[in-house]
Amino acid sequence: MGTEEKGGQKTAEASKIAPATGKLGVMVVGLGAVATTLIAGVEAVRKGIAKPIGSLTQMGHIRLGKRTDNKSPMIKDFVPLADLNDVVFTGWDIFEDNVYQSASHAQVLDKDLVEQLKPYLETIKPLPAVFDQYYVKRLAGTNVKTGKNKRDLAEQIRADIRAFKKTVDRVVVLWAASTEIYIEKTAVHESIEAFEKGMENNDIAIAPSQLYAYAAMKEGVPFANGAPNLTVDFPAMVELSKLNAAPVCGRDFKTGQTFMKTVLAPALKARLLGVRGWFSTNILGNRDGEVLDDPQSFKTKEESKLGSLDYIFQPELYPDLYKDLYHKIRINYYPPRGDDKEAWDNIDIFGWLGYPMQIKINFLCRDSILAAPVALDLVLFMDLAKRTPELRSLGVQEWLSFYLKSPQTAEGLYPEHDLFIQSMKLKNTLRHIKGENLITHLGLEYYD
Ligand SMILES: NC(=O)c1ccc[n+]([C@@H]2O[C@H](COP(=O)([O-])OP(=O)(O)OC[C@H]3O[C@@H](n4cnc5c(N)ncnc54)[C@H](O)[C@@H]3O)[C@@H](O)[C@H]2O)c1
Repeated sequence: MGTEEKGGQKTAEASKIAPATGKLGVMVVGLGAVATTLIAGVEAVRKGIAKPIGSLTQMGHIRLGKRTDNKSPMIKDFVPLADLNDVVFTGWDIFEDNVYQSASHAQVLDKDLVEQLKPYLETIKPLPAVFDQYYVKRLAGTNVKTGKNKRDLAEQIRADIRAFKKTVDRVVVLWAASTEIYIEKTAVHESIEAFEKGMENNDIAIAPSQLYAYAAMKEGVPFANGAPNLTVDFPAMVELSKLNAAPVCGRDFKTGQTFMKTVLAPALKARLLGVRGWFSTNILGNRDGEVLDDPQSFKTKEESKLGSLDYIFQPELYPDLYKDLYHKIRINYYPPRGDDKEAWDNIDIFGWLGYPMQIKINFLCRDSILAAPVALDLVLFMDLAKRTPELRSLGVQEWLSFYLKSPQTAEGLYPEHDLFIQSMKLKNTLRHIKGENLITHLGLEYYD
């Protein structure tokens, strides 16, 4: 074709995306810093108090056709997404605090703003959670369900979802709860039957997050995992996801340090600059930081953060540049900073003839301010996936890798970590489901 655009004719399929009519119910597991910043933020935007900065679904445009066509509609006008005014929140937490109290505790947003939104925020009260301190050592709460075994607990979550479904038109579940301890996949994760038996036997490799995901899958509801726990990325869950047309994606919101890493590493790689070492450290003082101070929860996070460089640099293809790269990650709990995380990266690189150089990054970020728009986009796009015939039975929604530190893929497929490849993949997926030409950036036709 020799054009900058390629692919999809307008297909009949494109017109089959169901419209986003009615209310979208968002059930958030864990009403902590990220969740309350998301919920308060959406309400502030609805009231016209603030803008949804950082959200592709709310502020992003998408180019269609040739560069000379000057056609770049807003994404939310191009694909049918739920309107923020139609979004209804609820959630689960082990603490009884309503969203106003929890947002006040998290101290992410200014007190003035939280007070302004108080009448709305205090109407959202957490449902009792499924929790077990074995999986999150640093937390203890009383708003917790009891049941005869894990399967019974999962059935109680299903009942919560069904009850909420009666009040809205569609539901999405988002995990924004604490990071659980590191768990390896075992035989219980291999099939739906093994998993169901495992729940009945209270198998130790089945953590609470997996029970929420199972419940969502059984109810045909999409589930996005914002934390690094083993929750949806195993055969039993993917099988259920496909069977019940309940899209899944995970894991771990890509927000601060890894966001920067997946921007800078592809640039170094593109210019064939070598990297000897990458040392990343953080100080963080919120409840997430406290949970991650436990070595077993930290291990889960560490695994999630470590993967990106290996995949981006491909040391097996470029041994002269990346074979012995030393990659170290530290997270230090430091209460005085609260949610205002500070991250430092020292990168030892080398160039022409092996001459060494250094790069330093010092990112003074706000953890939940970066995470909230990511969470919002994931929820709205997962709802879109559920309404899109071509996407809803795929299981894993790899096109949402853009938002995730450790993107889930089909079995045997390596994940794409490069932020710009991820961004292209996401936008081309939107073009594809709408029957628009894909954009390859070839562009020879401008010189014919
Ligand atoms: N903020 C970011 O930039 C960012 C980035 C990537 C991932 N994350 C992950 O997102 C998650 C939330 O982060 P946060 O800063 O909001 O943490 P937080 O500690 O403020 O909130 C987590 C909430 O989850 C609740 N919880 C724990 N286990 C639960 C369970 N089984 N059921 C229901 N509720 C449960 C806790 O009581 C708490 O209120 C963490 O796992 C974190 O690692 C955050």
